This record gives sequence, structure tokens and C-alpha cells, in this order.
Amino acid sequence: LPFYLAALIGGYLLGSIPFGLLIARAMGLGDVRSMGSGNIGATNVLRTGSKLAALATLAGDMGKGAAAVLIARMWGPDIMTIAAFGAFIGHLYPVWLGFKGGKGVATFLGIALAVSFWPAGVLTALAWLIAAAVFRFSSLASLASATAAPVAFNLYGSAQMMELFLALAVLIFWRHRSNIGRLLKGTEPRIGEKKDKTA
Ligand code: G3P
Repeated sequence: LPFYLAALIGGYLLGSIPFGLLIARAMGLGDVRSMGSGNIGATNVLRTGSKLAALATLAGDMGKGAAAVLIARMWGPDIMTIAAFGAFIGHLYPVWLGFKGGKGVATFLGIALAVSFWPAGVLTALAWLIAAAVFRFSSLASLASATAAPVAFNLYGSAQMMELFLALAVLIFWRHRSNIGRLLKGTEPRIGEKKDKTA
């Protein structure tokens, strides 16, 4: 049990690093929490106009999910799963930001690509890319990818991975509830478009 707790806390601490906030601040782009959707993820960092900052945010947030998996997997699949879940929760609810974190999609994609069931990880990432290319909504692509993941990991992964990605998908939908409202109202901005926090 202490080992499980250590994996959860270790993953959480890694996942709680808010790359979007830190990168945008370091590049002099301001506080992303007070612009666009107010989210700290790559999609909202892109609304500052800096593709480089958005790409670095994506890399950092994916990287921390992947790192949690790659470090923890030497202790077996249970520890790996717990560390991955911890990293995801750390991104969503970072203690450093008063537990107000991101929506988890980049971290989820990093986890999906790092667990050693590559066809499922690739399908999950492809679902995002295809939906984004077709509809041009980051949030809708994220919901498509979150939906695809438990199915893909059920087909090409393990029962444990299917359960992990089902849990992550439920949390991703929960965190996108304001996006879902905007998508239904037709007010969600397309990728790269700006929007008001109040929109
Ligand atoms: O991963 C977050 C993305 O799906 C939506 O971000 O800033 O448009 O709410 P945002």
C-alpha cells in the first residue's frame, strides 16, 4: 500500500506542473487563466498567438504524462496505472493553483502513447487529429479522442488499460462541460480563434 500511495503522489506531483501557465508567463505572454477559455492547456495558449508556446505546452503536458508511465512501469502494470492516473489528476487539480488546473487532454494523450499498447495509443491520437482536421474544434476533437480511447484499449490493450482510459474519459467529459455547452450553442471558437472568458 505505501508503494501505491507513493506512485499516486509521485504521479500527481509530476502532473501538477502547469506547463501552459509557466511557458506563457516565461515568454511574456501573460496569464493564460485570464484570457480565452481561461484554461491552462495548449489550445488556450495558442490563443495568445504564439504557436511556439502552444507547441511547448503540448510537449510539456504530454511529456509529463508519458514520463509518469515510463518511470513507473519498471514496477509493473499496477504501479504504472496508478502513477498515470495520479499525473492526470495532478494536471486537473494542481495544489499549486488552488486545485484549478486543466482539462487533461495532452496529458491523457501522453499517457496513451507511452503505455506499451501502441496501436491503441495511435488510434487515440488519430481520433483527435482526424476530428480536429474535420471539425476544427479542439474540444470536440478531445471528446472524440476520449471516447475512442476506452474502445481502442479494450481492443488492443488490457482490461486494466480499458478501465484507466474509461476513468480518464469520464473526467475529460466532465472538464469539458463548458465547451460542450458552447458547442451546442454554436459559440465554441475554432482552433486558433480567440474567445472571451465569458463567451
Ligand atoms: O484540451 C482542452 C481543449 O479540448 C479545449 O480547450 O481552451 O478550448 O477550453 P479550451
